[in-house]
Amino acid sequence: MQVIIRPTAEAAIQLAARIIEKRIRQFPDTTLGLATGVTMERLYAILTDCHKNNGLDFSLVKTFNLDEYIGLSSTDECSYRYYMNQHLFNKVNIDLRNTHLPDGMASDLKIECEKYEKRIKTVGGIDLQLLGIGKAGHIGFNEPLSALRSRTRDKSLTPMTIAQNSPLFKRSEDMPRRALTMGIGTILEARELLLIVTGKSKAEVLAKAVEGPITSMISASAIQLHERCTVIVDEAAAERLQAKDYYYWIFESEPEWEEYREEI
Ligand code: GLP
Repeated sequence: MQVIIRPTAEAAIQLAARIIEKRIRQFPDTTLGLATGVTMERLYAILTDCHKNNGLDFSLVKTFNLDEYIGLSSTDECSYRYYMNQHLFNKVNIDLRNTHLPDGMASDLKIECEKYEKRIKTVGGIDLQLLGIGKAGHIGFNEPLSALRSRTRDKSLTPMTIAQNSPLFKRSEDMPRRALTMGIGTILEARELLLIVTGKSKAEVLAKAVEGPITSMISASAIQLHERCTVIVDEAAAERLQAKDYYYWIFESEPEWEEYREEI
């Protein structure tokens, strides 16, 4: 794992956007795993800008989102399908048929989850999986005690996640209590992981995920098992990390980051 600390949330998200942009330019038919949440809104705005002003081409890109609420249709403003259409898909030249989210309205959720896993396999797996972290330590909606080998399935949300996400609903009681989510096992099969974490409110959970023991109580800690995982954070989120000096040094000295150092 490599942890990269940038001075501000904007700088952290700019760096993540550059990585994704370069990947799409290098491999135009890449398969991206996408995440939702407030953190990702700015990222998608930057990618949209790259498309509009710098010709970033999404026409062959395929996407699979981490999760979707159960019971919300794609036209519901609070569904993740709606979020993705609003923040990215409708603003770039992606083929909507290449964009996938689990269907939270499916009549048989178990079959829907199996289909989702199959669809990922059919395209050859996810090349780059984008991740955010919830205050409960989740990636996707893998709440505490999610098996580290779990696959796409339905999951009950914790009170902490409900408290974090319900303000995004017009009436907080309308927030679904269950969601479909890729499992930790599904996420770990992506060829590369990119976790973006910003803000002081995530400092404690980030330290647990990155430097704490691997435990299903903090499902994000499972990223420590991945061979190619980059964690990009701002200084506020990095506050509780113990090996900060080492992480700064990685960005300043590793050849892999040279091209990004020059740009920033
Ligand atoms: C939701 C999503 C997660 C995301 C998290 C972080 O819970 N299911 O995939 O990582 O939000 O959200 P935010 O960026 O708003 O803190």
